[in-house]
Amino acid sequence: MSARIQLVQGDITELAVDAIVNAANNSLLGGGGVDGAIHRAAGIGLLEECRTLGGCPTGEAKITAGYKLKAKYVIHTVGPVYLNGDFNEDALLASCYRNSMALAAERGIRTIAFPAISTGVYGFPKERATRIAVREVVTALERHSGIERVTFVAFSERDYGVYEGVMAELSFKAG
Ligand code: AR6
Repeated sequence: MSARIQLVQGDITELAVDAIVNAANNSLLGGGGVDGAIHRAAGIGLLEECRTLGGCPTGEAKITAGYKLKAKYVIHTVGPVYLNGDFNEDALLASCYRNSMALAAERGIRTIAFPAISTGVYGFPKERATRIAVREVVTALERHSGIERVTFVAFSERDYGVYEGVMAELSFKAG
């Protein structure tokens, strides 16, 4: 696996990286899960800026400042709600990672952290989502040489194990 990819377990709101990615909804006006945690930690300024953005289509990404977070920016992306896999869920989730990485590169962001988009309330199966996440990030890193480090943030110990498994599997196949 690339030396530019890191895996940590914990709370993404505490990371001192250039940008953290938010698993938002189409309104961009906050919610539960990681979205709620990011808005709580960033403060009201984040919501005020989000109100000016006019929402965000599923699979796309928008950027704001990080306000009270250690991260300078928040990249808000909207993952798909997982139904049964027949509703373009894989491609939409891949777009979230691809568009977030492209936006980061465009803004000169060098370090970025991702939560496991769509794997909470939106119900995406974790292993399937993690394979998509890792593959898309590896591909995007080849394209965007200015991005020095991508951190995957697993919230639970179990999720950490899922990332470890997928990373091992993909390196094994690549090798
Ligand atoms: N740090 C890192 N990861 C976290 C944190 C945290 N502080 N909190 C939760 N996670 P979810 P979704 C993990 O439900 O499935 C919101 O209401 C969590 O364990 O936050 O994309 C939005 O407004 C899971 O692995 O996002 C949308 O309406 C992952 O983050 C909807 O939920 C994503 O879980 C989006 O659903």
